[in-house]
Amino acid sequence: MSSGSALVAPAPLRAAADAARANAYAPYSHFPVGAALEAEDGRVFAGCNVENASYPAGTCAERVALGMAVAAGVRRFTRVVITSEAAQPTPPCGICRQALVEFAPALEVFAVAPDGRTARWSLAELLPAPFTPASLENV
Ligand code: THU
Repeated sequence: MSSGSALVAPAPLRAAADAARANAYAPYSHFPVGAALEAEDGRVFAGCNVENASYPAGTCAERVALGMAVAAGVRRFTRVVITSEAAQPTPPCGICRQALVEFAPALEVFAVAPDGRTARWSLAELLPAPFTPASLENV
């Protein structure tokens, strides 16, 4: 991981994540999250967390962003920026790591706190030894 005040996430992605986070539906956790995925062609797809009274039915911001992209026919990504209101940068949860690795094993992951504190990881660092489509062929 890289972190610190010198590290800066791509500004358009941070802005897109913040804009999506403003629409987060998080009445149960009170933990709004925004995510912005950058496609290889430069397009940006953003999402926010969408919670539910049936708690497990809620969805994370990263997977909403991913769904938006895939629904638009986009499947190849370079970077993602995640923003929350937590004092420390929020890394993607385990389920989101798994969802992202399906499409972008070389993804660069940034997380940004409100004061600009930033962390950076490769997805491979966050999810070593991933289960991928290739794993299904090992039968
Ligand atoms: N959440 C995300 O949106 N992304 C993550 O990677 C971590 C967790 C959401 C899920 C839930 O709505 C709230 O944050 C608290 O867990």
